[in-house]
Amino acid sequence: MSSKEKIRIGLIGAGNIGNVHLQEFGALKDQCEFVAVTDAYLPLAEQRAQQYGIPVVAATPDELIRREDVDAVIVAVPNQAHASLAILALDHGKHVLVEKPMGLNSEAAKEIVRAQRRTGLTVMVAHQMRWEPLSLQVKEQIDRGELGKIYTAKTGWYRRKGFRLGNVVHPACAIRGRPADRYRCAYVGFGVLPHGRAEAGVGIRIDLCGIRSPQERDRHVG
Ligand SMILES: NC(=O)c1ccc[n+]([C@@H]2O[C@H](COP(=O)([O-])OP(=O)(O)OC[C@H]3O[C@@H](n4cnc5c(N)ncnc54)[C@H](O)[C@@H]3O)[C@@H](O)[C@H]2O)c1
Repeated sequence: MSSKEKIRIGLIGAGNIGNVHLQEFGALKDQCEFVAVTDAYLPLAEQRAQQYGIPVVAATPDELIRREDVDAVIVAVPNQAHASLAILALDHGKHVLVEKPMGLNSEAAKEIVRAQRRTGLTVMVAHQMRWEPLSLQVKEQIDRGELGKIYTAKTGWYRRKGFRLGNVVHPACAIRGRPADRYRCAYVGFGVLPHGRAEAGVGIRIDLCGIRSPQERDRHVG
């Protein structure tokens, strides 16, 4: 495949995050296209195919993976099937984007890495938060040494769907006078050893908080 050709993607799992992949990769029309989709619940795959103009609904992941017109596979099914499907796809010559977590345990993750080394294909885990502006900004600050020596880090993600926040309001949301449950809100907390204080074991904690715009929130959260 030359770099000028579109990447032909097969999607396994057409649920919640599968739909996000369809939207996001679907926006990159010059670079990639969905050529096949499958789901354990086939009516959903058929619905997505119709909605996004995908020509093929494969009856099973195996059938999708074996298709010659598929260059790369997105594995967007529940966690327990990540490793087996990612490895099957690699062994059939497909690049893989696998949803997080890679597997149910570290051995499953290692199996994916071994399959990647065996085949030389590309594997990526959907750790998309690494490209969030907040994460990138913090990384730049760390690289510039502005935060001193980091000895611990904690990250989190508040969302209005998935679990109830109850009365929890992140301080940065409170400062802005916004209830946390109306906003998706990422935070990164670091334990930092200020320069020259490592020997004394003195640490401080820094919390950074980024809030998505309502428009972006609505696009993703619905
Ligand atoms: N990167 C992220 O931010 C992010 C966000 C949400 C979910 N996820 C991950 O995505 C995965 C799916 O989560 P979801 O929220 O989309 O779940 P979901 O239940 O909405 O969708 C999963 C879909 O996979 C299908 N499915 C199940 N087993 C299958 C199989 N063996 N073969 C084919 N289809 C199968 C189901 O029918 C369902 O439609 C999870 O591993 C989750 O951790 C990642």
